[in-house]
Amino acid sequence: MNKDLFARYDVAAPRYTSYPTVPYWSDEAFAPETWLQHVKNAFLTDPQISLYIHLPFCERLCTYCGCNKHITKNHALEHPYIDAVLKEWRMYRSTLPAKPVLRELHLGGGTPTFFDPENLRYLLENILKDVEVPENHDFGFEAHPWSTTEAHLKTLYELGFRRISIGVQDFDEDLMKLVNRSQTVASVERCTGQARATGYESVNFDLIFGLPQQTPAHIRTDAQYVAKLRPDRIAFYSYAHVPWLKRSQCAYSEADLPTGAAKRQLYETGRRWFDSIGYEEIGMDHFALTHDPLFQALRKETLHRNFMGYTPYKTSLMIGLGASSIGDSWDAYAQNEKTVADYQRVVNEGRLPIFRGHRLDAEDRRIRRHILNLMTRFSTTWAPEEAGDEILTAALARLEPLVADGLVQLKPFRVEVTDEGRNFLRNICMAFDTHYWRKQPQGKLFSQAV
Ligand SMILES: C[S@@+](CC[C@H](N)C(=O)[O-])C[C@H]1O[C@@H](n2cnc3c(N)ncnc32)[C@H](O)[C@@H]1O
Repeated sequence: MNKDLFARYDVAAPRYTSYPTVPYWSDEAFAPETWLQHVKNAFLTDPQISLYIHLPFCERLCTYCGCNKHITKNHALEHPYIDAVLKEWRMYRSTLPAKPVLRELHLGGGTPTFFDPENLRYLLENILKDVEVPENHDFGFEAHPWSTTEAHLKTLYELGFRRISIGVQDFDEDLMKLVNRSQTVASVERCTGQARATGYESVNFDLIFGLPQQTPAHIRTDAQYVAKLRPDRIAFYSYAHVPWLKRSQCAYSEADLPTGAAKRQLYETGRRWFDSIGYEEIGMDHFALTHDPLFQALRKETLHRNFMGYTPYKTSLMIGLGASSIGDSWDAYAQNEKTVADYQRVVNEGRLPIFRGHRLDAEDRRIRRHILNLMTRFSTTWAPEEAGDEILTAALARLEPLVADGLVQLKPFRVEVTDEGRNFLRNICMAFDTHYWRKQPQGKLFSQAV
C-alpha cells in the first residue's frame, strides 16, 4: 500500500449516488407539477418502476449515523406516518395512466423494523393492491438485528420480500457500545439464521470501516464472522465523518478516528479477507459471492447505481416515498421534505412534499454516463466524435496526475481504473464532475474520499 497516495487523495469528495450530486442541484423551487410530468413521461417509456420507502424512526441514536432519522420511543407515531406515506403514494398512483409493474421495492431508514409487523403489512398491502408484481421482483429491507423479530421476517416474506440487509457495522460489542449501538453477535447470528430459515434468498451485511478505535484486528474478526454466516453480499462502507451535518458524531474524539493510510488499511484488510473467502469486489465498497445477481450484473455490464446503492438492473423511474426520500425519473431528481413534521404537514395539506429537484441537461446526462460507468464497470468509453470536446478534454487533463500515479490508464477512447485505482474511485469520478469544478464548495459539503 502506497501511503503517500492516501495522503494525497484524501480530499473531500462525493459518493456519487447521483450526478449531479445533491448540493449541485439547480432547482430549489422545483414545482411538484413539473416533477409529476417527469414521472409520467418516465412511466410511459417503461411501466416497470422502483419504489423506495423511507421509514425514519429509530429507538436509539447510533452516534456514527449519517442517515436521515427521527429518534423516538413513541410507537404511536407509526400510524400517522404510514397514513401520510399512503396519501403520498395515492398522489403518484393517480397520475400514472396504468398499473405500474413493481420491479424493485426497498424499505430504508431509520429503522424499518421499528414498525410493528402488522403496521408494515397494512402499509405494504395498500401499496401492492395498486401494482403488478412481476415474477422477477426484487423486494428488500434494512433490518436492525436488535429489533428484527421472527414476525417481521415472516410478514415481509409473505408480502414478497426475499432480500434482507442487516445493519452489522462491526461485530465487536465494545466498539458498538462506543457508538451507542445496542447490538450483540448473538443478535446478528439469530437474525441471519431466522432470515435463512424463513426463506430469504439474499442476505446482505452492512459493515463500516473507519469507526472510532477500530483496528485491523476488528476487521479480521468481522471477516471471520462473515466466513461463518456467509451473507451473499457485503456493503463495506467507508465511515463518513460529517459532524457539521450530524452533531452526534461529536460524541467521540476525532483523535480516535482512523484516517488516511490507517483508515485505508482497514479497507485493505477487509478486501484481502473477503477475497480469500470467495467474495468479489463488485463496485465501490461492495462485495458479493459469485452466484449473487450483483456479481452476475457486473459480468454482464448491467450493474447500476442509484440512490439505493448498487442494483442489478435499472428502471427508468424510481419513486421515493416518505420523509427525505429522493425520486429519479432519469431526466430529473426530486427530494421530499426532510423532517417527519414537515413531510406529514405538506402531505396532509394534499400536496406532494417535494422541496427541491434538478432537471438534467444534455451535459449532465453525458457526465452521468461516465460516472456511472466508472462506478459500475471500473472503466468508461466514448465515441470518436466526442474525443477532443471541452468536457472530455478537461476531465482527461484532471486525470493526468492520477495516470502518473498509476490509478487510471488512458486508452484510445477509454479510461480504465487500475487495481490500485479502485481505492480512489471517488477521486477518479470527481475528474468528470463539471459542476464541482465550475463552483468549488466554500464550506464543508462532502466526507473525505479515503
Ligand atoms: C439507514 S442505515 C441502517 C438501518 C438500521 N437502522 C440499522 O442501524 O441497522 C443504513 C446503513 O448506512 C450505513 N451508515 C450509516 N451511517 C454511516 C456513516 N456515517 N458512514 C458510513 N456508513 C454509514 C450503515 O452501515 C447502515 O447500516
